[in-house]
Amino acid sequence: MNDAVLSQTLLRPLNARRAVNLSVKTWFYVAAIGHAIFLTYILAVFYPPIAESGLYGLKGLHLPTGFREGDTLGNLASVSHVLLAVIVIGGGPLQLIPSVRRYAPRFHRWLGRSYLLAAVITSVAGMYMTWTRHTFGNLVSQISITMDGILILVFAFLAVRTAMTKRIAEHRRWAMRLFLAASAVWFFRVALMGWAMLTGGWGIEWKSFTGPFLYALGFGQYLLPLAMLEWYFHCQKRGAGQGTQIAFVSTLIPLTVFMAIGIFAATMGLWLPRI
Ligand code: HEM
Repeated sequence: MNDAVLSQTLLRPLNARRAVNLSVKTWFYVAAIGHAIFLTYILAVFYPPIAESGLYGLKGLHLPTGFREGDTLGNLASVSHVLLAVIVIGGGPLQLIPSVRRYAPRFHRWLGRSYLLAAVITSVAGMYMTWTRHTFGNLVSQISITMDGILILVFAFLAVRTAMTKRIAEHRRWAMRLFLAASAVWFFRVALMGWAMLTGGWGIEWKSFTGPFLYALGFGQYLLPLAMLEWYFHCQKRGAGQGTQIAFVSTLIPLTVFMAIGIFAATMGLWLPRI
């Protein structure tokens, strides 16, 4: 690139469409860093004891229930849930990086199939544990997380169906929805810790793990990211107005800042101390 082209590129006004793309890219890379930290935590905390002692490795782990004598199916659900979480949390962001898709299409396909399978098993196991063992929260938390499990199954089915019928643009949209629904549990941890850091835990009853903030977050962990995604799709349309695009960017920037605070708080308060 010569100097004239370079300076023209740098001086090009930041129009609304470019601002949308830039804000989404920034959001994505901040989220990817946060996923990488959660992935490190899962690998470091759950893998060594389970590799050493199988189902008994769940004993003493930081889980609401973990190992329960005589409940083989529940223990299997718990083990498969935390082991496959690695593919869901590690694979999700990788699937969305355009250069991975472009330069390693076979890896993208292979990871895509593993991701889908892992997301489906993890959510079925999660729903099983939610309704057969008392894990955390109350009925509201059980219903809100179950809705996420159902959304994961529906989005996974639609992502596969559109890929099989070669409707690639639609496939991409369903795959992105699946990514956000499958990462809802990550958003939950990040938003919870960010909120606790900023407000001292307003609306949270820690002992019973209930309270208005937790109820809102139970649904918000997937409804808010999914709503932002639909808004992003709308901003990408040809006829999308500049006003809508600027409103989108002005909403996404503070949400990204909050997410970054939450990643820091979750890393320092939840993940790093247990690694
Ligand atoms: C598909 C994305 C999901 C991932 C990546 C994931 C990941 C995890 C991880 C890493 C844990 C261990 C707790 C921690 O240290 O943070 C966990 C626990 C748990 N998750 Fe999920 N989860 C997912 C979806 C779900 C869904 C949809 C449900 C329920 C419908 C669910 C229910 C549970 C339950 C009940 C536990 C406690 C397990 C126990 O006490 O043995 N999860 N999850």
